[in-house]
Amino acid sequence: MSDTAELKFNGNTYQLPVITGSENEQGIQISNLRAESGLITMDPGFKNTGSTQSAITFLDGEKGILRYRGYSIEDLADRSTFLEVAYLLIYGDLPSAEAFAKFRQEITFHTLVHEDIKKILDGFPSNAHPMGVLSSLVCTLTAFYPKSLDPNRSWDEVNLSIIRILAKMPTFAAWSYKNEMGHPVIYPDNKLDYCSNFLRMMFGLPTDNYEVDPVVASALDKLLILHADHEQNCSTSTVRIVGSSQASLYSAISAGINALWGPLHGGANQAVIEMLEQIKADGGDTAKFIAKAKDKNDSFRLMGFGHRVYKNFDPRAKIIKKAADDVLNKLGINDPILEIAKKLEETALNDEYFVERKLYPNVDFYSGIIYRAIGIPTEMFTVMFALGRLPGWIAQWKEMRENREPIGRPRQIYTGPQLREYVDLNKR
Ligand code: SDX
Repeated sequence: MSDTAELKFNGNTYQLPVITGSENEQGIQISNLRAESGLITMDPGFKNTGSTQSAITFLDGEKGILRYRGYSIEDLADRSTFLEVAYLLIYGDLPSAEAFAKFRQEITFHTLVHEDIKKILDGFPSNAHPMGVLSSLVCTLTAFYPKSLDPNRSWDEVNLSIIRILAKMPTFAAWSYKNEMGHPVIYPDNKLDYCSNFLRMMFGLPTDNYEVDPVVASALDKLLILHADHEQNCSTSTVRIVGSSQASLYSAISAGINALWGPLHGGANQAVIEMLEQIKADGGDTAKFIAKAKDKNDSFRLMGFGHRVYKNFDPRAKIIKKAADDVLNKLGINDPILEIAKKLEETALNDEYFVERKLYPNVDFYSGIIYRAIGIPTEMFTVMFALGRLPGWIAQWKEMRENREPIGRPRQIYTGPQLREYVDLNKR
């Protein structure tokens, strides 16, 4: 494979180095392009621009492959647990039994949050979207743990900051829901595993002894694994670029939560259910909504369909679709919007518009159906995505810091007015 590319411009020829990754992906290294030729590259939305070299997640959009640190998403979803996957993503290898026990113990020890954070939570109106509450609560950690503000502190102190947010995120997520319900918060129960503890804080009440259904806890654990990382997506790139200014880990994660919130990104899982409900309320005519999605004059998009990288099935969507069937069967639920989703998928996959543009169901298309089945309210779906994506954001932030990457600062091509004289107000 060639390791240089040749660019001819204005009568000059430039040799540009080409880097090759461990899966034979190749990229042109353009760091010196402007100094040598005066040229920058243009790529709105960075559709074809690499921002970093990363050893965390590999995905092949054409083949529908997704691996975390070399392990296939299918294997991890079937055989691992979310906390073990978090360890793998952040520290680079699967833990030994002893290391995993220590990690789990550290996480359990830090699930409680400072009592004063409840005062901040109480300040939110009950109609506050849980994602806004979550990103705010994460940022409050900079106030309660001021040593976390400096990412250049010792590894032990940085690792403690990592453990703290991994441990406290389920508490924050559940409390953001309690705020919306106007219910008292439920404190963590350190006898429970990660997902069971979250579910009890979400749905438990001081007046009852909430029992977690193991089917629900297992389905949630699998969903969190499937969301744990996805290389340089919008929210992860946000975490990296905020972290590149040497802002704190918690500032970067809070920024990532806000980037994920958008309906074109993590907010799509909420938008999918709202779309399916709209189709159901409209009589279930999927062909009508497929036509709307194809109509350039109609802003309607088929939420949960299409992906910047996957031009084949999103492997996570396949796993989630099967899991949705399993969970609904085990829980004895017959959700009519699951049938609408399957009919919509079948119609779209046989429609030239979607086939031509390689638009397939993505991770968000079926995840909302499982969240609904296990009782998670729709406006909490993107919070669940953030809970799952947290270890990926941490791993990517840590890698960016360890690689001492420079502050992110893209260039531009200016298209505004050329030099003009200032005219005093009384002469205009
Ligand atoms: C996530 O990047 C990641 O890894 C993200 C993620 C992760 O794990 O972090 O995988 C999670 O964000 C999944 C995506 C969730 N978003 C949605 O489901 C929203 C609906 N999907 C689209 O908005 C869209 O497909 C995107 C945003 C996902 C991707 O958009 P791109 O890559 O910028 O592609 P595009 O908007 O330029 O679309 C290309 C063409 C256009 O038509 P033409 O102009 O060529 O005629 O496809 C059309 C688009 O109009 N198109 C759609 C469509 N998605 C793309 N048409 C109808 N419905 C859709 N859903």
